[in-house]
Amino acid sequence: MNFSKKIRVIEQNNLLRLRKIANSSQSTEMVIEGQKVINFCSNDYLSLANHPKIKEALIEGVSRYGIGSGASHLVSGHSESHHNLEEALAQHTGQQRALLFSSGYSANLGVFSALRDEIDWVLQDKLNHASLIDGNRLIGLPVQRYLHNNLESLEKNLKKQAGTGLVVTDNVFSMDGDRANIDGIKTISAQSGALLMQDDAHGFGIFESTIPDHSIYMATLGKAAGVMGAFVSGSSDLIEFLIQKSRPYIYTTAISPSMCVAILKSLELIKKGEQKEKLFSNINYFKNCAETLDLHFEPSESAIQPLIIGSSNEALSLSNTLFEGGYFVSAIRPPTVPPNTARLRFTLSANHSFTQIESLLQKVKDVMA
Ligand SMILES: Cc1ncc(COP(=O)(O)O)c(C=O)c1O
Repeated sequence: MNFSKKIRVIEQNNLLRLRKIANSSQSTEMVIEGQKVINFCSNDYLSLANHPKIKEALIEGVSRYGIGSGASHLVSGHSESHHNLEEALAQHTGQQRALLFSSGYSANLGVFSALRDEIDWVLQDKLNHASLIDGNRLIGLPVQRYLHNNLESLEKNLKKQAGTGLVVTDNVFSMDGDRANIDGIKTISAQSGALLMQDDAHGFGIFESTIPDHSIYMATLGKAAGVMGAFVSGSSDLIEFLIQKSRPYIYTTAISPSMCVAILKSLELIKKGEQKEKLFSNINYFKNCAETLDLHFEPSESAIQPLIIGSSNEALSLSNTLFEGGYFVSAIRPPTVPPNTARLRFTLSANHSFTQIESLLQKVKDVMA
């Protein structure tokens, strides 16, 4: 295998993925590769990743439970802090039980892995997250997709299926910021007896979740919640079944118990709603400023505001120019997004100021002129 040749091909197609090193904590203002920038590409939507109360909670958690969990949940790693957090997440989402995973990626793989012998087909929104596609592939069923956010296409595709199946959708689409019509999807899926699974990685903590009966809900704890991990919530039977059958749940070390103490504090702050109010006021301000400056973002009510550029090269070059000007905005390129839809993915956080948003958009206008 000639790795360097393969890498050169990726580079020639302007698709080389690079990591920038952060020299400061996650925040709206950061030092990245030694340069001060305003950060517009974090999923820390509620600005909780560096919140003093959560940091305090984490330290308390370390004093009480130490650092590592030491084992998987089914051996000796399931502490009372994991259990308390699961109960709090179940209650928060209005479900009977919840189950913690170490990341959203493993939670999605975990659901698919448990359903392996239970379903005959899977139908997914065309723009679902890679982890859902990977989960689908993992269990050897064909990846069948309906048109993005299109109920007619879902209905048409459902008619072609036979046996028991799973309809899967992101709740807030990660690269587009738009939201799935959960009520519509639920009604159509229920007509054909399909099970619904939603991935609320980018909506949890921000939008009120809609979780139909007998469905599977997954959300992450490293984005708006500002910490790490993920959970699935639903009926008691669903959770018990996942504990028995989900290989990415069974065969991995539990996250640190102290992290669960931090997440419980984060949940408390999420429920208070102050950060969410600030985020929504920033989203409105961003959209108004963009309109005034005649910048055409994709329609999105969420913290994710994409500007489609098309060519990967151009998106990358705009992102670099913005970075040099003190604004960190990532360029998202294929295969993460469909061919010829490379984009700048702007994300807003509660702690951005109106001045930062206004100066960013003015800069975008200038560099695109
Ligand atoms: C829609 C969606 N689902 C799942 C994940 C994976 O979550 P995690 O980062 O916790 O592994 C992501 C991550 O970006 C995501 O955007």
